[in-house]
Amino acid sequence: MKFTILTLFPEIIEGFFSSSIMAKAVERGLIDLRLVDVRDFAFDRHRTCDDAPYGGGAGMVLKAEPLAGALDSVDAADKRVVFPTPSGRPFTQEKACELSREGELVFICGRYEGIDQRIIDLYVDDELSIGDYVISSGEVASLVMIDAIYRLVDGVISGESLEEESFTDDLLEYPHYTRPQVFRGLVVPDILLSGHHAEIARWRHQRRIEKTAANRPELLKRSGDEDRTNTY
Ligand code: ADE
Repeated sequence: MKFTILTLFPEIIEGFFSSSIMAKAVERGLIDLRLVDVRDFAFDRHRTCDDAPYGGGAGMVLKAEPLAGALDSVDAADKRVVFPTPSGRPFTQEKACELSREGELVFICGRYEGIDQRIIDLYVDDELSIGDYVISSGEVASLVMIDAIYRLVDGVISGESLEEESFTDDLLEYPHYTRPQVFRGLVVPDILLSGHHAEIARWRHQRRIEKTAANRPELLKRSGDEDRTNTY
């Protein structure tokens, strides 16, 4: 799968792609990265990419022409284009799964107050939000989504790890322990040392229900486990 990323700050993205699991996926040919510096498509003397909003108001807006030039240079009109924005639909695990099946995704990293609406009208397929808060860097929002997506691409990590983690169903993860058996007076639950796989699976499922009830009660309604919070 190929990630094409349009940004004014390519160095933010480069660091992430040279990190361990991602770098391995790139090395193995499972993931490909194409970085496009939007400033290369700003043709005035100062290579200006932002301007004041029509109608007044605070902040600056990313201009249409450099973005359109960058998008045309990668034939974005024929590709799935994602624009991370707090005004978007929620980005979920389900969406990550759907996007992981695309051959190529084009991400537009916004800055300032936003981007010219005509770019959204002309090119963008998915306006997506990573949560109900505002961050200043579209690069960080894109990387959050890319991290969630690339690990679902066939062959990047083992299917077993994917199956067990939170959000493959509607329950959060069970607690994990590793050596030593006692740490600062806290012991690993006996059941995990018992070797009884069925019992361990039952214990873990119950911990998942409890964790979900405590941290995300609204998810229990979706998973059908809301009556099972006190059974182990
Ligand atoms: N850019 C700034 N805030 C964002 C958010 N919450 N989601 C996606 N992109 C963003």
